[in-house]
Amino acid sequence: MIQQSIVVPGSYNHGYIHQLPLTKHAFPAYPETPPRRTIDSGVLSAIGYTPLICLNQYIDDRVQLHVKLEALNPGGSAKDRPAALMITEALNAGQISQNTTIIESSSGNMGVGLAQVCGYYGLSLICVVDSKAQPQNVQIMEALGAHIVRVDDPEDGDFLGKRLERVQSLVRAIPDSYWPNQYANELNPKSHQTGTIKEIIQEMSVVPDYLFVATSSTGTAQGCQNYLKQHKLPTQVVAVDAVGSVLFGGSHGPRRIPGLGTGCIPPLADGQSFSHVKRVNDLDCVVGCRRMASREAMLVGGSAGGVMEAIYSMRSELRGKSCVAILHDSGTRYLDTVYSDDWVESTLGCNLEDLKQRVGRRKQRKRNRYFVTGVPRLKSKSKFLEHNHSLTVEESKQILS
Ligand SMILES: Cc1ncc(COP(=O)(O)O)c(C=O)c1O
Repeated sequence: MIQQSIVVPGSYNHGYIHQLPLTKHAFPAYPETPPRRTIDSGVLSAIGYTPLICLNQYIDDRVQLHVKLEALNPGGSAKDRPAALMITEALNAGQISQNTTIIESSSGNMGVGLAQVCGYYGLSLICVVDSKAQPQNVQIMEALGAHIVRVDDPEDGDFLGKRLERVQSLVRAIPDSYWPNQYANELNPKSHQTGTIKEIIQEMSVVPDYLFVATSSTGTAQGCQNYLKQHKLPTQVVAVDAVGSVLFGGSHGPRRIPGLGTGCIPPLADGQSFSHVKRVNDLDCVVGCRRMASREAMLVGGSAGGVMEAIYSMRSELRGKSCVAILHDSGTRYLDTVYSDDWVESTLGCNLEDLKQRVGRRKQRKRNRYFVTGVPRLKSKSKFLEHNHSLTVEESKQILS
């Protein structure tokens, strides 16, 4: 069982995080001085160092749960990281120049990330999308100067395969064009290996027992797993995939949540395995999203809802464990789908009453902890010391002693 924790200052960009006692896998020490972000290199310097937030209302407090909010990257998702690394490295290596046309397939977030980096460097971008791309993402890409090419729905349901076919034909037809190929480019996982997971481990005071990651190209999960293996850390990676995705031996079927799963196995995912694979369906994703909104006041994207529902379904086996979930994007781009009661009923066949029942009620709190002033009282049942930003480490320790 998790012991009482103290709240310490130490998160180098976002103030305070809960800290478990250093009983196991203490790694690494907090940096003495917070790393400084460069502020003179434009929008790309704002990528990364996203907040790691401790949730205390989503599931019971016997599970220590942090979420990495990738929506707070400037382009709005985790895909800012590989987009920026793939293009910057290609420029540095002389593989592309100012006259190159970048061509990529994306269901949304990678397209926005690439539109951002290409816009910043003044490169042309053609993004191939399908009918599953969120309209708002496509509008953002266009607003950033990208040219959009749409493919029709494939008869066999392989949306990715159809988009990739079109990318290849465009690359053949357009001279001086470059396909970053997020589904095969090793810089995709590398951006997470050197960024996302490193930030998580630096910010946590103990190595998490579990890391939950939504998968499609598998770049995020793979990069994180590579870092964990490289540093011999025992965190188990739970790959969250969609029902209807063929990743990890799944069988093909309809899926409606963008960014989760694939209809064919991308080269990057070939032969990849993770400690656990957890499959969620479209409705699970909606339920996870709605529960996050009602319990944590956080509007998360569809795949993030799937990750949160995977955690919820495992809550009894996660007791006493420390878990981190990577949440790829925000719910603001899913208002017409995941957060629309009409869409949920007409597309997923679940009416509002049934949905409310699955989401469950938020636990009523006797008092609002955030309005308590002074030193917080430790409730006898409380497993964690509540947040109080005015406490020093020494004061926290005194309360706990
Ligand atoms: C919203 C969302 N979630 C999850 C993923 C999966 O990330 P990865 O491609 O790194 O496996 C993506 C990828 O596009 C995404 O857009």
